[in-house]
Amino acid sequence: MAQQEEVFKKLISHCKEYGFVFPSSEIYDGLGAVYDYGQNGVELKNNIKKYWWDSMTLLNENVVGIDSAIFMHPTIWKASGHVDAFNDPLIDNKDSKKRYRADVLIEEQIAKYEDKMNKETEKAAKRFGDAFDEQKFRETNPRVLENEAKKEALHTRFAKALNDGNLEELRQIIIDEEIVCPVSGTKNWTEVRQFNLMFSTEMGSTAEGAAKIYLRPETAQGIFVNFLNVQKSGRMKIPFGIAQIGKAFRNEIVARQFIFRMREFEQMEMQFFVRPGEELTWFEKWKQTRMRWHKALGLGDKKYRFHDHDKLAHYANAATDIEFEMPFGFKEVEGIHSRTDFDLSSHEKFSGKRIQFFDPELNQSYVPYVIETSIGVDRMFLSVLAGSYFEEKLNGGETRVVLKIPPVLAPVKLAVLPLLKKDGLPEKAREIMDNLKFEYHCQYDEKDSIGKRYRRQDAIGTPYCITVDHDSLVDNQVTIRYRDTMKQERVPVAQLEQIISEKLSMKNLLKTIQ
Ligand code: GAP
Repeated sequence: MAQQEEVFKKLISHCKEYGFVFPSSEIYDGLGAVYDYGQNGVELKNNIKKYWWDSMTLLNENVVGIDSAIFMHPTIWKASGHVDAFNDPLIDNKDSKKRYRADVLIEEQIAKYEDKMNKETEKAAKRFGDAFDEQKFRETNPRVLENEAKKEALHTRFAKALNDGNLEELRQIIIDEEIVCPVSGTKNWTEVRQFNLMFSTEMGSTAEGAAKIYLRPETAQGIFVNFLNVQKSGRMKIPFGIAQIGKAFRNEIVARQFIFRMREFEQMEMQFFVRPGEELTWFEKWKQTRMRWHKALGLGDKKYRFHDHDKLAHYANAATDIEFEMPFGFKEVEGIHSRTDFDLSSHEKFSGKRIQFFDPELNQSYVPYVIETSIGVDRMFLSVLAGSYFEEKLNGGETRVVLKIPPVLAPVKLAVLPLLKKDGLPEKAREIMDNLKFEYHCQYDEKDSIGKRYRRQDAIGTPYCITVDHDSLVDNQVTIRYRDTMKQERVPVAQLEQIISEKLSMKNLLKTIQ
């Protein structure tokens, strides 16, 4: 774990050094849990958004997009339940004065039991080699069984406390489990209190009587309140979906782990409206579809898992997370929720407008049920970088840092490198780039040795480098160098596009998840 934390620190500085992510307002010493995306970061982010948007709106003829405003009527947040219930349970350590989310402290404790079980199993696997039967070991080893029992007991108690909204019990669990503050090392805890996460501001001048409004904490409500507009103007029939990408804001108190938990972040959400009673079938379908979308990127199937929710919101009848193995453990990247008819019904009640669909096949009107898929762009960004970051030892003892970003998502697709800055090589390189730049984001680089230039491109994840040398002027061939294998190949300029296009094609990637 310590080694993984070290990797995470390196990844954060790599992001800054190579123009992916900068702390916001840095020359003023930064602003807590707010980040800016640099020249490479914004390209990667845009590519992630395009992959999501195209997978929703091109692959599903019954999913359409919208772009709703961040400012919305304040009653929307009353109707959605955010004013009354969008809270985190917080606890303070009296010695360090540090504040924590009580639920996160307990989840970390559960993960510790799991860690112990895994370590025990790994040790035994090394000892017994090929003869090791993991399942049998896990079923019989007393230390594994003891930790399993502790984990299960804690899990059950925690789920009940959350479901009951029992803050005293959450505190008691922290005391009973002897959880200490990572900073002070003490168990001197305050009570657990609820804290609302919405940012508010005022609209209009004070003289007119300004109205308190909120910065949206999720993009979903912009979709719900436009259900009728889209359904009617698009003549949409149930089942259909509305997708949206946009900023969301949460006053996260415990904002750690870089861009994993931010105060200003971006969501890609899709609400899929279905007939009442059919929601669990659609929930299962979207679960599988979304997992396919993640795995198609090729970062490794084992890095993903589902985590079904213990605590279902009172309006949900099923919910799961897709988790990715970050350097700090498996963490939620996307949530898939079956939200019943809660949101639309609630907006009916608060707005006084009828929000229903007349189903001609059933000859009946109803409030549709909703399956939601909700993924954070920034968390997706972090998972792509974490899954792509490698430090590789090369022959000769040198180490290269390479981002093996899925080629379709890579910020720069192609670097064009004249071997020398003279003899007509730059002109030839520019000519090649001028042909390819309309389709692919290319970078021209003529400074330093070719080896250094390859390293620079590895560090930002450029899948292809094209080197132009003196022979190129005669035979119209160039050397193509592949990022992941570092293999080099001599190819005719005329074939370049064909060679690179297969791996860089969004269409090919989308075809794999159809
Ligand atoms: N509309 C449902 C909803 O907002 P959520 O689980 O609260 O559900 C959905 O958020 C996704 O948004 C999460 O899976 C995560 O990827 C992202 N997200 C939530 N809070 C975030 C934060 N503070 N910073 C970055 N991403 C966040």
